[in-house]
Amino acid sequence: MTNLAALLIFLTIISVSSAQAIDRIGINYGKLGNNLPSPYHSIELIKSMKATMVKLYDADPEALKLLAGTDLRVSIMVRNEDIVELATNETLASQWVQDNVFAYYPSTMIRSIMVGNEVYSNHNAEQWDNLVLAMQHIKNTLHTHDIHDIKVGTPLAMDILGSTFPPSNGTFRVDTLTTIVPLLQFLNKTGSYFFLDVYPYFPWSSNINTIDLNFTLFRGNITYVDPGSNLTYTNLLDQMLDSVYFSMSKLGFSNIPIFIAETGWPNQGDLDQPGANDYNAAIYNRNLIKKIVADPPFGTPARPGTIIPTFLFSLYNENLKYGPRTERYWGLLKPDGTPVYPIDLTGNQTVFGPLQEPTNNLGYKGRLWCVVDKMGQTGNASELGLALRNTCSRLNGTCESALGPGKHCYEPVSVVWHASFAFSAYWAQFRNCGEPCYFGGLASLTTRNPSHGSCHFPSVSL
Ligand SMILES: *[C@@H]1O[C@H](CO)[C@@H](O)[C@H](O)[C@H]1NC(C)=O
Ligand SMILES: *[C@@H]1O[C@H](CO)[C@@H](O)[C@H](O)[C@H]1NC(C)=O
Ligand SMILES: *[C@@H]1O[C@H](CO)[C@@H](O)[C@H](O)[C@H]1NC(C)=O
Ligand SMILES: *[C@@H]1O[C@H](CO)[C@@H](O)[C@H](O)[C@H]1NC(C)=O
Ligand SMILES: *[C@@H]1O[C@H](CO)[C@@H](O)[C@H](O)[C@H]1NC(C)=O
Ligand SMILES: *[C@@H]1O[C@H](CO)[C@@H](O)[C@H](O)[C@H]1NC(C)=O
Ligand SMILES: *[C@@H]1O[C@H](CO)[C@@H](O)[C@H](O)[C@H]1NC(C)=O
Ligand SMILES: *[C@@H]1O[C@H](CO)[C@@H](O)[C@H](O)[C@H]1NC(C)=O
Ligand SMILES: *[C@@H]1O[C@H](CO)[C@@H](O)[C@H](O)[C@H]1NC(C)=O
Repeated sequence: MTNLAALLIFLTIISVSSAQAIDRIGINYGKLGNNLPSPYHSIELIKSMKATMVKLYDADPEALKLLAGTDLRVSIMVRNEDIVELATNETLASQWVQDNVFAYYPSTMIRSIMVGNEVYSNHNAEQWDNLVLAMQHIKNTLHTHDIHDIKVGTPLAMDILGSTFPPSNGTFRVDTLTTIVPLLQFLNKTGSYFFLDVYPYFPWSSNINTIDLNFTLFRGNITYVDPGSNLTYTNLLDQMLDSVYFSMSKLGFSNIPIFIAETGWPNQGDLDQPGANDYNAAIYNRNLIKKIVADPPFGTPARPGTIIPTFLFSLYNENLKYGPRTERYWGLLKPDGTPVYPIDLTGNQTVFGPLQEPTNNLGYKGRLWCVVDKMGQTGNASELGLALRNTCSRLNGTCESALGPGKHCYEPVSVVWHASFAFSAYWAQFRNCGEPCYFGGLASLTTRNPSHGSCHFPSVSL
């Protein structure tokens, strides 16, 4: 080999490894808020944060135009409700690619197309059965146009696994098997990724007495040895990733890489949601970034040395999301574009100023009531009245026997008071079924017992 050839190979290796290094951390650009900056301002923010990739939950023409000429690698999404049509009509699928990819590519660096979002988390058999065919049609169109740098995938949540622990015991849910196998065949054949939405926050927050918080935040001195594989784990994310790798291997697919389509940590939560705070969110995301950008890459115990590209969830705190308070607080940024806590997506900065110590890591112990909050009190009165009637209609007479004229909770006669009673009653009855204290953003939990006299508000004891 001549010196020149050796030098060229050397340079190629350098450029390949640095190209990989910059394509590891991206941001999910969710827009479910009524107070968020414009797409233009949002993309400027994403660039200023030095993200290298951005994932959209749609194929918004405005965003895709604005992303042209930037260095950002872009992921776009097919809506779940379009899957069946794209599977049954290949002309339509081809048209979808024309309209949403070719109209912007290559100046907008579209690098992946997500077909649907967490399709297996809803029981829509038609979408399950059509998913792979829709993906195939999209891939065919790309192939016909000789485009090979766009991956076609579908982000799935951890609920596709029937068992996750220990990681070597990972298996797919039995009901998904008939459709998961063709999906894995597609991903394997096309050299795509298994896109995974993976949140160590959830298993930790529902098992705070058995899972160590530091283990979840990548700073454990704790290690766990999987008895089935003898692999040693130092953090919960690796366990979750490996449970997916083991599940795939059991079906014969040992070479499909994982791409983290969403991960993160909530910076606020309800009183009954432990550990949702700025401090833990900062530690989780900073340590995650350090792990993901490390060179040589760490991978996981079952797949050491592999690169795991990652989209953080999410760009903003999104105030229109339904559910418990954590749902609205996954953002790296507040709606005004300022950071919730300092973070460096390049992983370069390792020293940050102190953050306020968290106070809710151990979870709340005591009684909680779900009452109309400030938003509900100062907002649209007819909306609150509507929420009161809806809630009472689902309570089979509870409201009538407590809030009717002359009954023990009738006074003071106000929509706010009556709605607080109804919300508390409903939440206390259905919290175990996953019902959040939300009521369209009109309610919050309180530790102060609102009961008076003979009027007792139902509560939940933690
Ligand atoms: C398939 O989609 C194309 C393009 O939208 C449309 O013109 C055609 O009518 C559709 N075919 C069927 C069978 O629906
Ligand atoms: C493995 O998973 C199965 C089924 O999900 C479960 O019954 C079993 O207890 C698990 N094994 C271990 C060692 O936890
Ligand atoms: C968790 O990690 C922090 C920082 O390394 C350390 O100060 C703290 O003592 C650890 N907590 C436990 C319970 O191990
Ligand atoms: C981990 O570190 C904490 C705090 O430094 C210490 O209290 C604990 O004993 C350590 N645990 C183990 C298993 O070494
Ligand atoms: C794990 O290690 C133990 C003790 O070294 C050994 O007996 C066992 O066969 C190993 N299991 C696996 C799955 O490698
Ligand atoms: C996965 O793809 C590789 C390379 O194309 C192929 O050799 C292998 O048989 C495939 N695995 C399965 C389980 O289909
Ligand atoms: C990392 O920090 C060093 C020193 O502060 C700086 O020279 C370098 O450009 C930074 N790298 C990135 C990717 O920001
Ligand atoms: C108040 O809410 C009702 C019911 O949702 C809606 O029809 C009405 O337009 C709202 N009024 C204002 C001022 O927002
Ligand atoms: C109300 O009654 C229906 C029918 O009996 C039942 O399905 C439902 O669970 C009840 N709701 C409450 C809040 O008890």
